[in-house]
Amino acid sequence: MTTLGTPLSPTATRVMLLGSGELGKEVLIALQRLGVETIAVDRYANAPGHQVAHHARVITMSDPAQLKALIEAERPMLVVPEIEAIATPVLEELEAQGLVRVIPTARAARLTMDREGIRRLAAETLGLSTSPYRFCDSLAELQAAIDGADGKGIGYPCIVKPVMSSSGKGQSKIDGPADVKKAWDYAMAGGRVSHGRVIVEGFIDFDYEITQLTVRHADARGHIETSFCEPIGHIQVSGDYVESWQPHPMSSAALERSREIAEAVTGNLGGLGLFGVELFVKGDQVWFSEVSPRPHDTGMVTMATQWQNEFELHARAILGLPVDTTLKSPGASAVIYGGVEARGIVFDGVAAALQVPGTELRLFGKPESFTKRRMGVALAHDADVERARTRAKQAAALVRPRAV
Ligand SMILES: Nc1ncnc2c1ncn2[C@@H]1O[C@H](COP(=O)(O)OP(=O)(O)O)[C@@H](O)[C@H]1O
Ligand SMILES: [Mg+2]
Repeated sequence: MTTLGTPLSPTATRVMLLGSGELGKEVLIALQRLGVETIAVDRYANAPGHQVAHHARVITMSDPAQLKALIEAERPMLVVPEIEAIATPVLEELEAQGLVRVIPTARAARLTMDREGIRRLAAETLGLSTSPYRFCDSLAELQAAIDGADGKGIGYPCIVKPVMSSSGKGQSKIDGPADVKKAWDYAMAGGRVSHGRVIVEGFIDFDYEITQLTVRHADARGHIETSFCEPIGHIQVSGDYVESWQPHPMSSAALERSREIAEAVTGNLGGLGLFGVELFVKGDQVWFSEVSPRPHDTGMVTMATQWQNEFELHARAILGLPVDTTLKSPGASAVIYGGVEARGIVFDGVAAALQVPGTELRLFGKPESFTKRRMGVALAHDADVERARTRAKQAAALVRPRAV
């Protein structure tokens, strides 16, 4: 049985978000609505989540000493990672000591911060289909992995990614031998931690890709149950999400397989909370790609499409509360990029964007804009998912960020 307290009092239920970007901000809002006392942590001041939490803290979350000191000082009931670049061994240590509960588990945070951990778990431990892959520590190893000993290499086309990276950073497609060095250099420049390891994956020529939002939550008797949202279709440009919609039409065989994979992966990672399972689909065939043990960027569409959006589902699940994953209306999301490099930008065209029927906006309030930084998102709902996509894109295009 979950008992919730009063924030800023001795009975407070205190939750710490590690990472306070646009996704963390929405989780914080969902927690605030349940009277949870929130501590928002990020690497820079005035991050989106800092602006809505009871407490805002700025630390380097990949620094074990800083992370440990902060958790020990704050003693939250739950620690909720929102990003991957966290000193996860500290989380495992504090969790093992019984000092905090990490969402979904400290082990899940560790395995998913590194492409190698989660890929080996999915493919080698759980036996799920994935793209063919190798891990390489040098350009020579990368070339050897592509060529293989006896024509059994990964071959072309293939994709190279730093093992520690997200949002497509350092990731590129290799179409032939001429691209290999460029892809290696690009990965070295774009990885999160410069330890020079990459994954090379065979290119999957999928029909479409989806995010299968999956929630592990407690039922009335406290047993853990797995629930699924409707599949979310999305489009990625250079490994970064630009558009998503829900539901994405799927054959019943592909949907069933997707949910089997999602249940296997999230069941192994364990704990409570929402996961974004990324899958590639061709006909009835489904490949596991990766998983976020937390709300997913493509899942922002659920703010327009579900009775309980992915952030509310996460907040409820981690607190041991019941969830409802049903769809309210089909809908879509489209990303608003900064387009400029400046601090304290302004947004023109907001009224025009909101004239588009059935739309809403989220402007994240990030203090600094970069050309390719996600600064906001347009959402649209409509009985017809294709019309929702058109409207979300229309609304996003009408918002024009500008430096002053
Ligand atoms: N093996 C692959 N075959 C085809 N497309 C891929 C492959 N790996 C990645 N992609 C494309 O690149 C996108 C980003 O890759 P992903 O592994 O999800 O990286 P990130 O962690 O940065 O999101 C995917 O959503 C997909 O569109
Ligand atoms: Mg991804």
